[in-house]
Amino acid sequence: MERRETSVATILDGKEIAGLIREEAKSDLDVLDQHGIKLKLTVVLVGDDPASATYVRSKERVAGEVGLDSEIIRLQSDTTQAELLGIVDRLNQDDSVDGILVQLPLPKHIDEDAVLDKISPEKDVDGFHPISVGRNVSGMKGAVWPCTPAGIMKMLRLKGIETEGRHAVVVGRSNIVGKPMAMLLLEANATVSMCHSRTKDLAAITKQADILVVAVGRANMITSEHVKQGAVVIDVGMNRVDGKLTGDVDFASVEPVASAITPVPGGVGRLTVATLMLNTLKLGATRRKQYELIQR
Ligand code: GUN
Repeated sequence: MERRETSVATILDGKEIAGLIREEAKSDLDVLDQHGIKLKLTVVLVGDDPASATYVRSKERVAGEVGLDSEIIRLQSDTTQAELLGIVDRLNQDDSVDGILVQLPLPKHIDEDAVLDKISPEKDVDGFHPISVGRNVSGMKGAVWPCTPAGIMKMLRLKGIETEGRHAVVVGRSNIVGKPMAMLLLEANATVSMCHSRTKDLAAITKQADILVVAVGRANMITSEHVKQGAVVIDVGMNRVDGKLTGDVDFASVEPVASAITPVPGGVGRLTVATLMLNTLKLGATRRKQYELIQR
């Protein structure tokens, strides 16, 4: 086995960075408030998946902290697709609603694409609508990027982690994280490789990464054998192992090799919710033609 130097990695503290993002959102929301404008986020939760219920509660709590009105619409797991589409349509028409988020995953009998396609792009705080995706990928204004990768980019900037000219490797190709993450890193002038379940000799590619982002959903799949000395490692995994939240990165193995690493829990998860507040702020201010009042 190859010998490696060991060092102490910087732990990228999601709690601290999420706090900074929330402060940014709050200061802009306060300004809007002074002008008598109160923005509102509506979250739709279908069914009783315990993880989703927890995420939705944290969205509601953080919205309250930053001064955003929020409303949770909780629907039974046997809600029909037509009923859900009707509710989204009503929210699209409701002038008091600035952001709409339908919590995923949806029950199997509902076509997720049809629902995401129904959300008005101007209220699409997830950035999942095809018009939002198209705008973002084309470098056009008017859409927000999905919260998790947008939050990760914000963390890299706040922590002074350079992306330009560096090799970023993204493992996982989901619409929620992997694909937008790769596009954002590309936009930030990184050289980007994407790996996924069919990638041959994963370690040979991940070992080239200056910045490694892992969003696969398989506990502890990335070990020190996958990581170059001094790499920045971002773990998006949220796996339950024996009731314990566990990342995709084997922290104990990788931390001595990395220069900086996000822990699980306490890493990326909190950034997602904080960024949702910024996304709601941006879309709300744009829709209400108050963009000049805000700084973000
Ligand atoms: N489920 C897991 N992550 C997300 C997310 O970012 N947005 C939505 N709508 N659902 C999710």
